Amino acid sequence: MSEVALPVYTKSQLALRNGQDRAEIWIAYRGRIYDVSASRLWKRGMHYEHWAGQDLTHELQDAPHTESVFERFTVVGILG
Ligand code: HEM
Repeated sequence: MSEVALPVYTKSQLALRNGQDRAEIWIAYRGRIYDVSASRLWKRGMHYEHWAGQDLTHELQDAPHTESVFERFTVVGILG
């Protein structure tokens, strides 16, 4: 699937998917928005000290894992 077809979401739209306001739990990483709603490690939008609904590109540096954790999740959009 071409990424060109993906919808573009603003930071405010992403912020609504923080696991508190809506059922969807989304996080942005390197311009892509991933749906992590299915993850038990992101329940209610919380992942260790991090919250969903935002761009966590820089925070990945502090994580004990690489970006390979995103492989099993679907890209739902592009952060505009
Ligand atoms: C203090 C920082 C963090 C800690 C201690 C932490 C810890 C963990 C642990 C233990 C896992 C289990 C799988 C694994 O180790 O490969 C995991 C998975 C994951 N982490 Fe983190 N993480 C941190 C930060 C982040 C950040 C900043 C992001 C996003 C940019 C992130 C995204 C994910 C994702 C998407 C998964 C996969 C969840 C799943 O497969 O259900 N993590 N993390």
